[in-house]
Amino acid sequence: MEADVYFAPGRVNLIGEHTDYNGGLVLPLAIAEGTYVMIRSREAPPARLYSASTGEEAEFDPGEIAPRGDWADYVRGVFAVLAEDRGTPPPFEALYFGDLPLGAGLSSSASMEVVTATAFASLGFALDAEEAARAGWRAENQFVGVYCGIMDQYAVALAEEGTVLFLDCGTVIYRHIPFTLKDDSIVIAHTGVYRSLAASAYNQRRRECEEALRAISETVGNKSNLGNVTREELVSARPRLTEAAGRRAEHVVEENLRVKEAVLCLEGGDPEGLGELLNLSHASLRDLYRVSSPELDTMQEISLDQPGVWGCRMTGAGFGGCVISLVRSEAVPGYLARVPDIYRGATGREPFFITVDSPGGGARKLQARW
Ligand code: GLA
Repeated sequence: MEADVYFAPGRVNLIGEHTDYNGGLVLPLAIAEGTYVMIRSREAPPARLYSASTGEEAEFDPGEIAPRGDWADYVRGVFAVLAEDRGTPPPFEALYFGDLPLGAGLSSSASMEVVTATAFASLGFALDAEEAARAGWRAENQFVGVYCGIMDQYAVALAEEGTVLFLDCGTVIYRHIPFTLKDDSIVIAHTGVYRSLAASAYNQRRRECEEALRAISETVGNKSNLGNVTREELVSARPRLTEAAGRRAEHVVEENLRVKEAVLCLEGGDPEGLGELLNLSHASLRDLYRVSSPELDTMQEISLDQPGVWGCRMTGAGFGGCVISLVRSEAVPGYLARVPDIYRGATGREPFFITVDSPGGGARKLQARW
């Protein structure tokens, strides 16, 4: 019996960090690494899942679907969301494999959710890219129980080759911006520190932002989210905010403005300007939003010391995971030759690196059939 094959990439965020759940702006891009699934329907339940990455198997009965706290929850979650909206899909079997490092801050979970939602086309449940993104996001929030924003699933589903996704998470309006910097690459440097969103201060930051939004709304009139707050409004509301809430809100307001400037830098072919914005973003995430870590800061500092590096910042939720550097492509081999040893020597951690010369495409069906 034949099976269909689908792919969804991982992502990094160029800039616009901790803005998505504040209704703000983000600028993520897809990488070449991702998740593949080979899928076909089965005559009868249960649904059977295999992961070639971990060697694990899982199954579930479409009639009784509940989270179990394992990797297969990303698949069960998408199944549950679709069943709720459109009626129960048929039983199926699916083999997952890929080259995306798991739990490394490159959105392996969103990649698995979105590849699953996209692959349901082969079970008679065709979704467009936005529907697949939304199904993945709902699975993560309502089923897996991680209260993330929409950036990751939208990036993974909607990415287009050679572009970054300029997404307004408040209105969900987006535009693909060509990555015009042909002489430059993005080097992703993983710190060797793996982290879990659920275990981090992510939810605490969300609460602090809600607190800030309430106090700002009481001062300047109702605001739907921090993404809509101007610098001036924040200044006038600042005396009513706690120290922590004020800093978090300042990060969000300024980071949102940086995303707009970053788009102008891409449109104007200005790597120097973009590099400066990356550095400012890192400083703000470290000092105002407080989601960096000693390893992220060390990797950022080492990267900035290298020739040909325009700028560098932590990317993703923080507390571990990756930094990204904008590097002149001709300087990338030198960067990769020096940084691992310097970083290991400074931290005792084992890093890994991924170079992106041009952004990759989003979730799709592959031509191959087995
Ligand atoms: C994680 C979440 C995203 C976003 C980033 C921070 O990656 O999944 O929704 O909030 O952190 O920008």
